[in-house]
Amino acid sequence: MISVVVLGAGNVGSHLVRIMQSVKKVKLVQWYSRDKNSIKSDTKDIELCNDLKNLKTADIYIIAVTDKAIEALSKKLPFENRLVVHTSGSIPLKKIDIKHKRGVFYPLQTFSKSADLEFSEVPFCIETMRKEDSNKLITLAKYMGSPSYMINTEQRQALHLSAVFINNFSNHLYRIAHELSDYKSVNFDVLKPLILETAKKIQSTSPYNAQTGPAKRNDQVTINHHLRTLESHPDYQAIYKQLTNSIKITHGLKKL
Ligand SMILES: NC(=O)c1ccc[n+]([C@@H]2O[C@H](COP(=O)([O-])OP(=O)(O)OC[C@H]3O[C@@H](n4cnc5c(N)ncnc54)[C@H](OP(=O)(O)O)[C@@H]3O)[C@@H](O)[C@H]2O)c1
Repeated sequence: MISVVVLGAGNVGSHLVRIMQSVKKVKLVQWYSRDKNSIKSDTKDIELCNDLKNLKTADIYIIAVTDKAIEALSKKLPFENRLVVHTSGSIPLKKIDIKHKRGVFYPLQTFSKSADLEFSEVPFCIETMRKEDSNKLITLAKYMGSPSYMINTEQRQALHLSAVFINNFSNHLYRIAHELSDYKSVNFDVLKPLILETAKKIQSTSPYNAQTGPAKRNDQVTINHHLRTLESHPDYQAIYKQLTNSIKITHGLKKL
């Protein structure tokens, strides 16, 4: 049995609490949020806490708050020499106050409070100063049904940057596609199988080999047509040009 206190009630904190409540080998000791009222209605059988002075003893304290608040919150914790980890992709382990046993427990997935998530699809990137602490975090991930990897700060920051390209930028491209199809009264649902197939294909082939489309084919007629269509959206035209050039360079073709 591993005992845990979760600090933070945003997207990540809420999902961690939900999974920990459902796993027998994890004891959720407390859920800290600076505004207890914001989570009152979501919770039954969980001890809520909004005063750091009232935090109880646990094996692991998981700080799942906004990146810029991690350092200050870790300093304010009224104890020392306990395992305190954060869940950020970009914040160095050493930003956690030195009075603690420090660690990172970064879930490499996209979390929204409103969207369900299978924890078997949430790989945890683990970093600690001491082997016994990483063993605790590996065990915690295992109890939640999640894979885990030992990843140092530099590697984690590279993964986080990759995740921005994979998730945040792709999602923004979906949003542009949504707007363009809406504009011509086409239901976005028509495009959803393509979104799934794009993600599915790179499970078995490299993104380099999976590339298709007018840029890869060097099809200048289609590219020019698309650029003319986007004349009323200069931002999207600039993104189209930038990505087209990047694909062309990657595949050894001349830029626009
Ligand atoms: N969302 C993701 O997809 C994702 C994925 C992997 C890792 N992460 C990481 O997980 C962490 C949490 O992200 P999130 O998406 O859950 O954030 P979020 O939904 O924006 O929630 C942030 C939480 O931090 C609390 N908070 C902010 N400032 C605070 C302070 N000074 N003291 C105490 N609590 C404070 C907020 O409380 P209030 O509601 O009172 O403001 C809220 O509960 C971040 O480090 C993030 O980088 C996020």
